[in-house]
Amino acid sequence: MNTLYISGGRPLEGVVHVQGAKNSVLPILAATILSGRTSVIHNCPPLTDVAASIAILRHLGCRVCWEGETVTVDSSTLDRCDIPETLMREMRSSVIFLGAILARTGEARIYPPGGCELGPRPIDLHLEALGRLGAEIDQRSGRLCCRSKKLRGCQISLTIPSVGATENAMLAACGARGRTTIYNAAREPEIWDLQQFLRGCGARVWGAGSSVITVEGAIPLDHAEHKVISDRICGATYLAACACAGGEIELRGVEWEQLLLICDLFRQAGCRVRGEGDRIFLSARGGLKGVSPVRTAPYPGFPTDAQPPVLAALCRGEGTTVFVETMFENRYRHTAELVRMGADIRVEGRVAVVCGRERLRGAPMTAPDLRGGAALVVAALGAEGESRITGLDHIDRGYARLTQDLTALGAQIYREDDRGEAKHYGNRTQAQTAGRPARPENL
Ligand code: EPZ
Repeated sequence: MNTLYISGGRPLEGVVHVQGAKNSVLPILAATILSGRTSVIHNCPPLTDVAASIAILRHLGCRVCWEGETVTVDSSTLDRCDIPETLMREMRSSVIFLGAILARTGEARIYPPGGCELGPRPIDLHLEALGRLGAEIDQRSGRLCCRSKKLRGCQISLTIPSVGATENAMLAACGARGRTTIYNAAREPEIWDLQQFLRGCGARVWGAGSSVITVEGAIPLDHAEHKVISDRICGATYLAACACAGGEIELRGVEWEQLLLICDLFRQAGCRVRGEGDRIFLSARGGLKGVSPVRTAPYPGFPTDAQPPVLAALCRGEGTTVFVETMFENRYRHTAELVRMGADIRVEGRVAVVCGRERLRGAPMTAPDLRGGAALVVAALGAEGESRITGLDHIDRGYARLTQDLTALGAQIYREDDRGEAKHYGNRTQAQTAGRPARPENL
């Protein structure tokens, strides 16, 4: 069984380059269908979710070439409008193909999407938005068929600023005649990145980053070349890892403004943190302290995806922190595993109360979902003794180089599986050593 072994208690030191954003690259890959030409996407991290998107594109008839961190999609050869159940179940983002296929072909046949089990994850807002654009939706026998000879521009008001529903509405609106305005749109940076890709293809889209997005429909679009933004949740995970294990790291290639709340939180917890351009420096030389209540919210609020790794870091140290998870019903499954390490966490409904402990001890644990898995890694890095983490399929969906990056930062970590990674704790080789953080004078 794939297993991650971590011998905790060693500070992390060095520089880490943050990967491209999973939650940007997946909708952008779906959007490549709209162009009917070739799209070149750079900074695509090698994740299993990216592989799943590529499998869908190939099934639809697109020609896809994936070399290093660049994916090239030629969608001129698209000749299908259905996605089989097995491919749909691979991830939640498979549902974003719905709007894109509908816009391109006038018909889409899919199944309910998979993804992390975080509680109910309906797609009613996606379907409502497509319905407003003129799609007829048939949901009989577990399959979802959408048809529309002509999508028409319209006004869409989302009752929740859903990331996925905003993306689906944007993509379908590109294929509609006339202007579509999406109100109460999600404001996440990944939505902005999708807009930038679409504009690169010649689409007329504006407003992303605010809660009103406007699209003037017109497809097919043009060739495009696009570099995906950095993964703010991956960045938050590395900051949490250093805060928990101690040490001093520099993140490179990040948009630090997207991580302001995370930086503020770790500052309040006793770390020294500074953001500058595309870098964030974090120094954790003393113990951590509990912080004021953390309430997850849509962007620019505290990201629900960062809650598990941040919660894990705050299991170590002094004082109490209260977490309120407002986005998903079941996003504390990692806490039961953290308790096995000696963490003091009480969960009641949407609230988790974490009483920091000076010491955590290594334990065998299973990743319950993607970010929950990252939380176990964070805690294990700060714990005494060895932890064994299984359920790595979840972690592989979102973290491309976790073992390599942490090894380069000085962690004692290795993975036992058939991916050809080290089968023992290795010392950092020169190639792996993560450089020295260029510490700002006033850190
Ligand atoms: C995206 O999921 C992200 N996934 C999630 O990241 C992230 O946690 C989430 O946004 C919130 O930020 C991707 O981008 C691939 P939503 P999504 O629609 O689009 C409710 C990770 O770990 N809702 O904004 O599925 C829903 O139940 C993943 O990388 C409806 O009620 O999230 C939830 O409570 C996990 N009806 C809330 O809205 C709908 O039709 C926000 O969900 C759609 C959503």
